[in-house]
Amino acid sequence: MPITGEFQVRDGESLLSSGVITSSDDTLLETDQHTKKGSVLEGKPDTEVINVNEVYRELILRGYEYGPFFQGIRRASVDSRDTDIRWDGRWISYLDTVLQMCLLSRPGTHQSLPVLLESVIIDPRVHPAQPAEGTEEFETIPGSWDPVLDIVAAGGVEIRGSHTIRSSRRLTHNSPNVEEYTFAPYMDPSPSERSAPVVSKALMNYSDACFEFSRQGMKRWLAEDKDNLLPNKQEIVEALEMANKIASTPETASNYASAKATLEALVKSKNGHGLPNHGVFEMLDMTFSEPLQGDYWETLRKKLHVVRSYLWDDPIIAAMESPDIIKFVLETVADNVPQQVVEILEVGAARGSYYRQAIPKALDYLSVKDWRYTIADKFFVEDAVDYPVKILQFDPLDPANFPEAQNESCDLLVLKWTLHMEVDLDEAITGFSKMIKPGGFLLVEENVERLPTLFPIKAIVSASLGGHGGPEGDRSFGCFYTDAQWTAFFKRHGFEQVMHRHDGFSASLFLLRKPLVPITPPVIVNVDDLQCSWLEEVQARCAELRDSPKDARLWLVAKTELSGILGFFRSLTWEVGIDKLRCIQICDSSPGSKLPEITADSADFKELVRKDMAYNIYKNGKWGSYRGFVVPEAVRQKERESNFVYADWLSAGDISSLHWFNSPLKIGHHNGMLGSKLAQQLETETCYIYYAGLNLRDVMLANGTIQRDILPDETFFKEGVLGIEFSGRKSSGKRVMGLCPPPALASSVQCPVSSLWTVPDHWTLEEAATVPLAYATAYYCLVVVGGLQKGKTVFIHAGTSTVGQGPEWTQLYDLVQTGIQSGVVKPLKRAVFGMDKIVDAFKTVEAQKETAKVLVKIRDEEAQKLCQTPKTSFSAVHRTCFDPTKSYVLVGGMGGMGLETAHWMVLRGAKKILLTSRSGIRTGYQARKISFLRQLGVDIEVLAISLNNRKSADELLQHALKMGPVGGIFNIATALHDDNFSDFTRDVFVKALDSKVTTSLLLDEISREKPVRDTLDHFVMYSSIVASHGHMGQTNYAFGNSVLEKICERRKRDGLPATVPQWASIADVGIVAQMGNQVIITRKFPQRFFNVLNVFDYMMSSAAVVTTSYVLIERSMIAAGGEESMVDQVLKAVGKILGIKNVSTVDGDKEFIDMGVDSLMSVEIKQALERDVDLVISTKDIQLMTFNGLKSLIEGN
Ligand SMILES: NC(=O)c1ccc[n+]([C@@H]2O[C@H](COP(=O)([O-])OP(=O)(O)OC[C@H]3O[C@@H](n4cnc5c(N)ncnc54)[C@H](OP(=O)(O)O)[C@@H]3O)[C@@H](O)[C@H]2O)c1
Repeated sequence: MPITGEFQVRDGESLLSSGVITSSDDTLLETDQHTKKGSVLEGKPDTEVINVNEVYRELILRGYEYGPFFQGIRRASVDSRDTDIRWDGRWISYLDTVLQMCLLSRPGTHQSLPVLLESVIIDPRVHPAQPAEGTEEFETIPGSWDPVLDIVAAGGVEIRGSHTIRSSRRLTHNSPNVEEYTFAPYMDPSPSERSAPVVSKALMNYSDACFEFSRQGMKRWLAEDKDNLLPNKQEIVEALEMANKIASTPETASNYASAKATLEALVKSKNGHGLPNHGVFEMLDMTFSEPLQGDYWETLRKKLHVVRSYLWDDPIIAAMESPDIIKFVLETVADNVPQQVVEILEVGAARGSYYRQAIPKALDYLSVKDWRYTIADKFFVEDAVDYPVKILQFDPLDPANFPEAQNESCDLLVLKWTLHMEVDLDEAITGFSKMIKPGGFLLVEENVERLPTLFPIKAIVSASLGGHGGPEGDRSFGCFYTDAQWTAFFKRHGFEQVMHRHDGFSASLFLLRKPLVPITPPVIVNVDDLQCSWLEEVQARCAELRDSPKDARLWLVAKTELSGILGFFRSLTWEVGIDKLRCIQICDSSPGSKLPEITADSADFKELVRKDMAYNIYKNGKWGSYRGFVVPEAVRQKERESNFVYADWLSAGDISSLHWFNSPLKIGHHNGMLGSKLAQQLETETCYIYYAGLNLRDVMLANGTIQRDILPDETFFKEGVLGIEFSGRKSSGKRVMGLCPPPALASSVQCPVSSLWTVPDHWTLEEAATVPLAYATAYYCLVVVGGLQKGKTVFIHAGTSTVGQGPEWTQLYDLVQTGIQSGVVKPLKRAVFGMDKIVDAFKTVEAQKETAKVLVKIRDEEAQKLCQTPKTSFSAVHRTCFDPTKSYVLVGGMGGMGLETAHWMVLRGAKKILLTSRSGIRTGYQARKISFLRQLGVDIEVLAISLNNRKSADELLQHALKMGPVGGIFNIATALHDDNFSDFTRDVFVKALDSKVTTSLLLDEISREKPVRDTLDHFVMYSSIVASHGHMGQTNYAFGNSVLEKICERRKRDGLPATVPQWASIADVGIVAQMGNQVIITRKFPQRFFNVLNVFDYMMSSAAVVTTSYVLIERSMIAAGGEESMVDQVLKAVGKILGIKNVSTVDGDKEFIDMGVDSLMSVEIKQALERDVDLVISTKDIQLMTFNGLKSLIEGN
């Protein structure tokens, strides 16, 4: 075979790379340049060099994760031209390092992959020798990058002409949760105060229809029950009477058949589909359908027992199971249980079954504590074996037989739908109470309204219902109490009611506390002072707590809104424990409202002492606490109405993720044209788009074949790159078609007047949209460049679509114009897609099957040739936009998150940014980032300033105003001064408050004054999850962040912009990453910065002032009886990816591929294994893996 030097590298069938390899006896590389050794950068000032950590931090941000062996760039100059490279004798990592130099030479935010190298020369003869065997020493070799010739070289390696493409790989990391962190009252607002019902309108309609069906069913039953076969007949009569009393229509207004038909129709309707399960309807239907004869009762009872699980997921039954409610309940319990593992016991679990859904779901979000869950019922609850719960079997209705071992065994006893079944409630509650530890909690859910709805089912399943009577009056139909009756009942049995929720239509949830009455007099310390004069006293009191009696309590009290007590207290409990600490904050701002009095003898304080709750925040006339309410992803991405939209993708390279986003036109400026050089040179006009043309460039951008970065920098804003031609109307109402910078796949566009043509009267706008690019391209290629003349023939290729700029443009414009007038230019064949079919439109162009021009229709064309475009509303995903004409101030903007935030703002339109810190540019990394942003055409200024008085704030303001009217103020500053609380001196403690409290107060002050208040759109203060969850050693940092949150809450109330993102630790930039600490705060993973950006838009637009973003460490409840082993946890995680609930039930020797694992799943499994157990397996091997094989691999790993 002749030696050609051609090579291919393949993985199975797929070609990985190909090329030509040659060898030479001659020296290939210039020796003097390539034989140099030693550092070229050592000793250079810090601001000119980026060090190894900064190099790889930048690369991590872009999605490259190099391990220690591959981190071969020791230093680089800010412009990447010079590098110090490590040579340790490992050729593979060395060659990779030289490739990394290519990547470093192209800064940005994305990951690029080298796809073509014009040449690689490796000349070992000029390369330093291998380090001596066994030595850990390494040699430093200078590397260089020549941007003109595009050559990178180091030692005996030289790469010429490296071409990269943007990777469309989605950066995968556990997706972040978002919570809105707001005040939540312990007690439900009264019905008249409820702002919105807990339940949706669809659910309310469904509940009403079930009620009516039940009423008509009972009526028919009673009429047909000649032989007295109905059990609990007297109660059914009562239930029907009550139903008639509370129904809004007379009983004769419908009948059984019509009520059933209404309910059936509702269940099948669109709204009904929104409610996935209709167990109440199905069970009522089953109950009423059984003919009233013979032993029907037994038969029906058995049938209902079998299908009882239908009820569990019915939204009427599950309304209280909303994670918001249950999470709040469980967090409240956790806040008040001193030990690390909280014991939950659910009694009557077969009926209530909180263990199935509600509690596990809520526990997923709960972080700080562990939970052990036990369930108990008369029957062995078989389906509970799939859940991580311990199962006990005893009759909860027979308190005499409670197992001894359950005495004072739980921190939380759960009774859902259980108490009302008791004949003797007094005896029952006494028995249940015994199971709860002193100071523990009882959670009761009961139906208190619309009782007749479910009553027929209840009447059938129980032979006889609970006893009438009791001191609170009759129990409705022998079993139910109202809200007020339950409250009185619990009080009589010594329980403190600490929380109450009503679902808005039928059920109530009571959280009760079994009291542990303190005798030792409480100590109260006021912690209002923002200068922290109370510090020493609190330290001394905390020290005393150690040896004080169990019932001693230290009450920290803040009576002002602007206090950091909440964060401070959370952090303090990490160090001192929760058992003896209590906090009170009065942050009520309602004018004239009577505030609680907190003194040792006041009735208000005594009530708090009785309830003994750890957190007592008084706001809006209610006691409560601050809580995070989870915002599901679907809600975060919910579209909102906007008059200005443009199309873009949610994930790069994924056409199916194309969506409409609100455009910057919304905030009064135009597309990316504004503020750009092009816009300054050209006269532009706003056009309302009716049809937008799609071209191959749009599809290639959307599917990742070409990258946004190759497009000219200054002609558009970076996040809207789709669409460059359209037809529509100018503001004057005149019909036009045109070519313009993207995004023209939009509802409006700012178009250069020089590329707008008037649409001839005999064309529709649909026809016109097919013309601009096609004819401009044709004229350009054939006439302008090709010099086409009469009689010549041409070959037309689909790829020719570049349109020239500059002087040629006028010629081209005229050619098209003349062509329109002469009739040569004619509308083309077209295929039109609606805005909701945008993905189909792209796929049609991508498939290249359609020869017609693909258009996206934005609006209907009016019949008139001249008319104004009416205001139209479109659905769009929210994206934050910044105004290029305004200035944005980022205090602390020189830090890790500050620089990345600035970069993101630039991508969203900001062009004038003022970054501040106390010391200005200190590192090469900062210099590099700023230089990169300047290259993007952004006016970035750096101001070294310490914001500690009004004078410095004014100086900052003047600087910003010189750049432009102030559009946004961000406080991203922080300086940590961590220590154990007991060791803090006041000086050190308050140092952490400078950047959080002093700075934020000053920024708040200047932003409330003219001229800033008239132009300010964003006031964003970065806080930390430490403020809501606390952390060891950070009482001062948490205090500062809490104050900052309060400042923003006050602003919001005053109608001013205010946003506080509460970040969990960030893994790749900023203070935590810099410390090299992967701090896991309260089971929250350090999150990657791209995750931050994924949720930032929501946080910026949320109605809540404070929103938290974090990545939760996956966990499940600890199965009673022992911790889950690491192997089990990993197998379970893999099972979850495969959609297997219980891995022990599948064949352990079956290969994953046979269980349906696809390539995406195998990548997910690969990542899980690498992340959790550091096990690296190729995706191919994963497909062939079995559970047994994996188990032994992990065990042996
Ligand atoms: N990184 C994380 O994991 C994380 C997690 C949760 C919350 N956060 C929050 O995110 C924000 C940014 O954190 P980061 O990680 O980017 O911190 P960083 O890298 O340390 O940057 C903080 C910046 O603030 C500046 N600064 C400190 N005190 C200042 C003051 N009094 N006035 C003006 N500038 C001051 C620092 O520069 P000088 O020292 O030169 O002044 C530095 O440039 C902070 O608010 C932090 O609380 C961060």
